[in-house]
Amino acid sequence: MTLSGKRILLIISGGIAAYKSLDLIRRLRERGAAVRPVMTAGAQQFVTPLAVGALAASRVYTELFSREDEQDVGHIRLARACDLVLVAPATADLMAKMANGHADDLASTVLLATDRPVLVAPAMNPMMWMHPATRRNRATLAADGIRFVGPASGEMAESGEAGEGRMAEPVEIVAAIEDLLSGAKPLAGRKAIVTSGPTHEPIDPVRYIANRSSGKQGHAIAAALARLGADVTLVSGPVTIAEPAGVRVVHVERAEEMRDAVVAALPADVAVMVAAVADWRVASAAGNKIKKRPGEAPPPLQLAENPDILKTVGHHASRPKLVIGFAAETENVAANGRAKLERKGADYILANDVSPATGIMGGDHNRVKLIGRDGTEEWPEMGKDEVAERLAALIAAKLSA
Ligand code: CTP
Repeated sequence: MTLSGKRILLIISGGIAAYKSLDLIRRLRERGAAVRPVMTAGAQQFVTPLAVGALAASRVYTELFSREDEQDVGHIRLARACDLVLVAPATADLMAKMANGHADDLASTVLLATDRPVLVAPAMNPMMWMHPATRRNRATLAADGIRFVGPASGEMAESGEAGEGRMAEPVEIVAAIEDLLSGAKPLAGRKAIVTSGPTHEPIDPVRYIANRSSGKQGHAIAAALARLGADVTLVSGPVTIAEPAGVRVVHVERAEEMRDAVVAALPADVAVMVAAVADWRVASAAGNKIKKRPGEAPPPLQLAENPDILKTVGHHASRPKLVIGFAAETENVAANGRAKLERKGADYILANDVSPATGIMGGDHNRVKLIGRDGTEEWPEMGKDEVAERLAALIAAKLSA
């Protein structure tokens, strides 16, 4: 009984997936957990408090302004007298309320008043899950430290539409709770190197060649790996975003400096090369500012090729067990990505289309194809934080396999 003695406050909100909460309650109790249910008004349209209460062997809480409930435990005690608050299913509406700090019913009030870990299992129509408003809310909640399990892909019960949005299965939710409550960090004791941002290649002391990379994706990956317990060295080119917490940051400007910092950080268990390294540098940067001379032609820029850092790491004598790169493409994304996988000796390439119309470079979202030795997986468009979380989970799974 892995959840023996654990007290779970289960908030059920109003979606068709609420019927799965009945099975979830049974499984949690089988593992020794005590379940105290809170139901929203919407949830009661799908399953009855009677059924929920019978399976949980507990009173079901539904009202914020109920004299009886308040005299019994009260919403503040309800929010605190547990080891974990689980929201399953979490509707788009409840996520929106949580993200904005609403407290207009018992469920949202408990969520605002709790100081316990919160795990959310979203369930909604795929269009609602992909809507920018829901994406924003999810990112806000993740930044607030709220954990997610699912949703999974599949066909929707009501509409037959396919896509992401189906609630995670009760067994997965139970596994996520066990992970969360055990406090085990799957990457504890592992060393990771991440590169991020652009590089700046000087032309003279005041001018440089650069690119549009913001560092958002690389920084998010470094943060996600650190959250899973990895010892992370983030080698960052010049960026204006905040340094992620719990990460050692080495600041560099040029590709050659970035290469040196990465090689100095070896050995490591995993390297994720996310930086948009400038392919060329100015062969000999001027020591002084290059001046305009009236009547003379503009100065020619002689370029030299920069070291390929991913390739260096992929073929290094102390190559990390896992070497992962990105492929920034504007055409033939999959084919170019796979060619890079081979050429650079990587285990995975996350290929993305960085054409200006996609808004990926510099933006908060990404849409990647995960290209591995044994196939390609297409990830739906999601926040860069979410790409980072998924990749960190994949790294944890691969390193423990
Ligand atoms: N990369 C690197 N060092 C370089 C160039 C790229 O480490 N000098 C890494 C990037 O961090 C990324 C991967 O290689 O993980 C692919 O980068 P990308 O810019 O897509 O490819 P390039 O190798 O530069 O090839 P091309 O410009 O021809 O697309």
